[in-house]
Amino acid sequence: MTGLFQRLATRPGAAIPFTIDGAPAEAKAGDLLIGAILLYRRSLRRFEFGPGERAGFCLMGACQDCWVGLADGRRVRACTTLVEPGMAVITGGAGG
Ligand code: FES
Repeated sequence: MTGLFQRLATRPGAAIPFTIDGAPAEAKAGDLLIGAILLYRRSLRRFEFGPGERAGFCLMGACQDCWVGLADGRRVRACTTLVEPGMAVITGGAGG
């Protein structure tokens, strides 16, 4: 994994498979989506008002910088959403 975040401690719990822009990924039960995505990616999404990319800011549900889309049509704040098995995250191609 070459993401922005690194898991510093082994965490017990079931492995939770999900995808990021169609690529397989794996989280641990209880992981928040922001951490799970940023283990694999350098950002969460493209910035809608300019050429940059965004990776969240406050990590506590206040700044609204971490919205990502899901294939089922939901838009969720990655910092307040637990990873669910089979979740299909759509980032818009950010952060590879
Ligand atoms: S990182 Fe600020 S609302 Fe999610």
